[in-house]
Amino acid sequence: EAGELGAEIGWEVYAVGGFVRDILLGRPNLDLDLVVEGDGITFAKRFAAKLGGRVKAHSKFKTAVVILDDGQRVDVATARLEYYEYPAALPTVELSSIKMDLYRRDFTVNALALRINPGRYGQLVDFFGAERDIRNRTIRVLHSLSFVEDPTRILRAIRFERRFDFQIGGQTMRLIKNALGLKLFSKLSGTRVMHELQSIMNEGDPLACLLRMQELGIMEAIHPLLSLDRERIQILTELVKVHNWYKLLYLDPAVVPWKLYILGMTAGIKRDEIGQVTGRLHFTQKEERDFLHLRDMIGEALMKLMGWKEGHSRLSRLYKILHPIPVEGILFLMARSRKEYIRRNISQYLARLQYVDIEVNGKDLKNIGIEPGPIYTTILDRLMTAKIDGRAETRHDQLNLAK
Ligand code: CTP
Repeated sequence: EAGELGAEIGWEVYAVGGFVRDILLGRPNLDLDLVVEGDGITFAKRFAAKLGGRVKAHSKFKTAVVILDDGQRVDVATARLEYYEYPAALPTVELSSIKMDLYRRDFTVNALALRINPGRYGQLVDFFGAERDIRNRTIRVLHSLSFVEDPTRILRAIRFERRFDFQIGGQTMRLIKNALGLKLFSKLSGTRVMHELQSIMNEGDPLACLLRMQELGIMEAIHPLLSLDRERIQILTELVKVHNWYKLLYLDPAVVPWKLYILGMTAGIKRDEIGQVTGRLHFTQKEERDFLHLRDMIGEALMKLMGWKEGHSRLSRLYKILHPIPVEGILFLMARSRKEYIRRNISQYLARLQYVDIEVNGKDLKNIGIEPGPIYTTILDRLMTAKIDGRAETRHDQLNLAK
């Protein structure tokens, strides 16, 4: 439909980037990016009108997002015509605008376009040897200043390399080492580093990326305290296992991957040093507060769990230890517990205990003649404890106990 609309208006329209790359790789990708040789915003508006949807336009960048009624998002960009002025009276040279658009991108594998106008539908536009690089499973930059222009591309190179099981090409690797030698990383803002780290944590195998970063000295370059030692690698390995296990079994509560893995990446850093890391990564005040609080809660819970004995200790005690802790912290505790029965009980907490609720409320307490007051909290807490420990399963039992 986008191609037909392009033909109607008389503009060439291309699908570009990851969408095209993933077609050649045979991997699913639902994020469609379009580039229009014309006006992207006008195109987006007419596209939305034609298919049913709304448009968010950024006039400064001449880009737009179309959100179709079925929820599908399509990004539309404008391939600007770039004119190169020559001295003297030589004419202005117009370069093919899609080529310029693709040339600004990070790697050859991402610099592919697919014609979608009718008549040329499905023609691959490959100026930089992307098809060959995909065949040879290589990540390669388009030009030697790519990492100087944008050092976050170093992390992107690693992310794509590990995701597709490719190899960063020889020259590209030299450029990465050169960029690291120039300390380009220290100039990168914490926000941008954090953003890339989050993308890495969202990958299927974040640890592979982190190990590659460590190998290339990037962890150190971000902050010396982040260097991965054996202990952290071991913890991260466990975290990946526990996270995969959790994803397989549960949708809720959803785990925010970076909140989980950052715990492993910073394991062993002392409380008075952790601010250096959160500062470098430019955590917001709230993120920093939550993170420090989570680390404290985990520390406390680990101590308490050491004294938790299967068969002797009550499940309600486990509930009290775990209940205040967000799911990322719970998974971290699971990864750190060496005792099999503790893992089993945490798993029981995730499956069932965390959702336990009692069948009695304040109104019921009033009805059986208890004066309202702070005592209600105490009573309801105790009923909860009793229910978890199997001493007051039904509403009837709970009312009796309250009396
Ligand atoms: N891009 C770039 N330099 C960056 C970030 C992005 O050149 N630092 C380009 C890439 O060529 C990419 C496009 O912008 O194809 C869109 O970026 P993004 O959505 O991050 O990339 P995808 O390739 O779609 O990655 P993913 O599969 O992870 O969504």
